[in-house]
Amino acid sequence: AVRLRVREALGAREPADAVRVQGWVRSVRSQKDVLFLHINDGSSLEHLQVVADPSLENRDLTFGSAVEVQGKLVKSPHRMQNMELQAETIRVVGPCDIWSFPLKMKERHPLEYVRQFPHLRCRNNTLGSLLRIRSEATAAIHSFFQDNGYVHIHTPIITSNDCEGAGELFQIGASNEVRESAGKTHFFNVPAFLTVSGQLHLEVMAGAFTHVFTFGPTFRAENSQSRRHLAEFYMVEAELSFTESLQDIMQVMEDLFKTVTSTVLSKCPHDVELFHKYVAPAQKTFFFYYSSCRISYSEAVEILKQASQTFTFKPEWGCDLQTEHEKYLVKHCGEVPVFVINYPYDLKPFYMRDNEDGPQHTVAAVDLLVPGIGELCGGSLREERLPFLESRLQRLGLADAYQWYLDLRKFGSVPHGGFGMGFERYLQYILGVDNIKDVIPFPRFSHSCLL
Ligand code: 4AD
Ligand code: MG
Repeated sequence: AVRLRVREALGAREPADAVRVQGWVRSVRSQKDVLFLHINDGSSLEHLQVVADPSLENRDLTFGSAVEVQGKLVKSPHRMQNMELQAETIRVVGPCDIWSFPLKMKERHPLEYVRQFPHLRCRNNTLGSLLRIRSEATAAIHSFFQDNGYVHIHTPIITSNDCEGAGELFQIGASNEVRESAGKTHFFNVPAFLTVSGQLHLEVMAGAFTHVFTFGPTFRAENSQSRRHLAEFYMVEAELSFTESLQDIMQVMEDLFKTVTSTVLSKCPHDVELFHKYVAPAQKTFFFYYSSCRISYSEAVEILKQASQTFTFKPEWGCDLQTEHEKYLVKHCGEVPVFVINYPYDLKPFYMRDNEDGPQHTVAAVDLLVPGIGELCGGSLREERLPFLESRLQRLGLADAYQWYLDLRKFGSVPHGGFGMGFERYLQYILGVDNIKDVIPFPRFSHSCLL
């Protein structure tokens, strides 16, 4: 018999005589003279209907069990489905103890419920669809950059620098270092951390390959229990040499977003539809980006100051935009993505390019805020001028540690810039998922590291 995945069986043009399908039972319906099963093997949201003689039923053939079915693939009489499998044999490969199995047949379990079972929730429709979409989106991101002449770089996960300088680092060491007395030497001779961003390593590579990108896990010890922060998340980062304006960076963000989203929509229409129909809040109709809006940080602060709404954090030039501020700005602009550019110099990391303005001193930074999520992307032009960078690092006491970074400004420095996009926030946005823990297979956040 020819082995077929459920997706292939459902999409078959012609009936076939001897086929074999393997998967997990999603429903069992036993009638007087016929037994119906639905089989899913993760290749599609849709299940394959199996029609069998009741004599093939057995005690182990339950919801959740793993089975192998052999039989004939025939045109289905049902309008809703193309093909069905007429079983000749059904073998239970692995039975399922349905009494203790936390998923139940025909129940739409809430996301918060299945979150308790990270080892089993992938057998649920919603997480199944999510993980197929995530896989397609990952491939689409790689294709977007490869198609546009970027070189993919594996930036390191273990690093000795703190790119963002925000102190949200996880420090690492060998496990026997921890047990031994303090004051001993580090495994790497220097303190080492899990990366918070691959940007600085990408800047190295942009100095040779012009356009580079990385897409890997990123770690931040954020103590917030928010619905948009994880301790381990994936970031897409791009770095472009010979770039003198933020406009170029914003254009790449927008192209990336539009290209990847349209690929995902065309590759997994049913999986995406499940989210838009059953998961996203009903009022949500703005998943994509038909238009966008662009304002400066200073304009943003003026808009917030003139708002009739009172904020928990009073908007003031020089202060970070809080979630409530981001929300208001997005609403003010008509619930479209909003680029906010030129942030206060003192608010941003050392690498951002000085705009040399005043009295309100800014750097060439850009954040992309989107409805329902807040910040989706953050980027900037980088300070490529040696004297500016040197004096800033000196003031911060970092000039020695970043000697290599200063070197990049001595040996063929060019204007450059880039950005990072949070991959989980991207998925939340296009699918309308409220909690970031539901768009990653195994979420890690403060006080929780299951499995
Ligand atoms: O704005 P961030 O901190 O930017 C950087 O790290 C730059 N060095 C990137 C660059 O220019 N190459 O982070 C980028 C994005 C944020 O906009 C957000 O979407 C996401 O990463 N992000 C998180 N996502 C989930 N959980 C967290 N704790 C996140 N922190 C940031
Ligand atoms: Mg940011």
